Amino acid sequence: MWFMAQVSCFTAIRLFLKWNAFEKLPVDKESAISWAELADVLRGDVALITRIGQILVAHGILKHVASGRVAHTHFSKLLLIPAERAIIELGFDVHAQSWMCMPKYFDHFGLVDPNDSRQTSMAFGEGRLGSTPFDIIYADEERRKAFIACLTVNARQNPALGKYDLDWVIKQADQSPSRALVVDVGGGDGRALMAMFKAWPNLARHRCVLEDLSEVIGEVRHAADPDLAGVQMVPADFNKEQPIKGALLYYIRQCLHNHPDDKCVALLQVLARAMAPDSRLLIVEALLDDPATTHQAALDLMMMGIAGRERTLANFEEILDKAGLRITQVLQTHELSATIECMLT
Ligand SMILES: C[S@@+](CC[C@H](N)C(=O)[O-])C[C@H]1O[C@@H](n2cnc3c(N)ncnc32)[C@H](O)[C@@H]1O
Repeated sequence: MWFMAQVSCFTAIRLFLKWNAFEKLPVDKESAISWAELADVLRGDVALITRIGQILVAHGILKHVASGRVAHTHFSKLLLIPAERAIIELGFDVHAQSWMCMPKYFDHFGLVDPNDSRQTSMAFGEGRLGSTPFDIIYADEERRKAFIACLTVNARQNPALGKYDLDWVIKQADQSPSRALVVDVGGGDGRALMAMFKAWPNLARHRCVLEDLSEVIGEVRHAADPDLAGVQMVPADFNKEQPIKGALLYYIRQCLHNHPDDKCVALLQVLARAMAPDSRLLIVEALLDDPATTHQAALDLMMMGIAGRERTLANFEEILDKAGLRITQVLQTHELSATIECMLT
């Protein structure tokens, strides 16, 4: 029953998020609400709300105050934050759904390590074989918003640089006035660059570049975050020719794990072709231990659902070597994040 209990908790949280039920609980410390009152504001059956709610009480997500009355906990209050709820929504709707489909998916495709971004268990479950995970996520407004919101939490879990020292870029900037300083490839909403500007205020923003798919760049431009003011925003598909040549630093965080090895090699080759002999590439990703921890293995299974994978250092060495790159520095931040510096071989 242990497994089913964990899944029941995940399901109950997802339902309460869907119904905006956590928002209906009083947030002040002493106040509680009855299941009947909650059912009333949600316009739902008391029996249904009680049955789903009791799972949250049993798992300590909500606090039992008196018979039939509950209150917020520290955890349920976290679920009021848009980015935190987005992580659960995407985890449940995309990753857990793709796990549920895996038995039938492997019946269909055989016991083959998924390596085609258009033939994933996520697409299989959605009835959309032939579409990539990002085609599927970005086509659905609710999921697209949840995905972008997740990047905030993602950024917190994967510090932009970890212990990496950007001082050399600042020092070399004056000697190479025509070169871009940092190109954030697949940079999403630019959170990594923002973190770099905060830590290194001398990093010239107008010489830094944020790249992503055109729909993402359009959205970032529209949001006009003052923390990205001055940054060059360039729509660029990282599978195609890199538009910015000879930058001091190319940077890619949490993108490679979304893709199978051959796609990563092709993507890294594209970057290698744009790099100058002294350019560096920083990869920020999890580095799998041997054996993998429970969190690393779970993350790897999430990536399997989209034909991506988490990688060991040896896996990174292999794909980098095929792309004409070599590792020059590895800095472990924590079990789910490391900073890997590379140069041309
Ligand atoms: C997991 S997110 C990481 C975002 C960002 N690097 C960060 O760490 O916050 C992966 C990013 O890759 C982008 N992406 C997916 N396919 C892409 C492509 N073909 N070219 C450029 N960016 C792409 C997505 O839009 C998304 O922003």
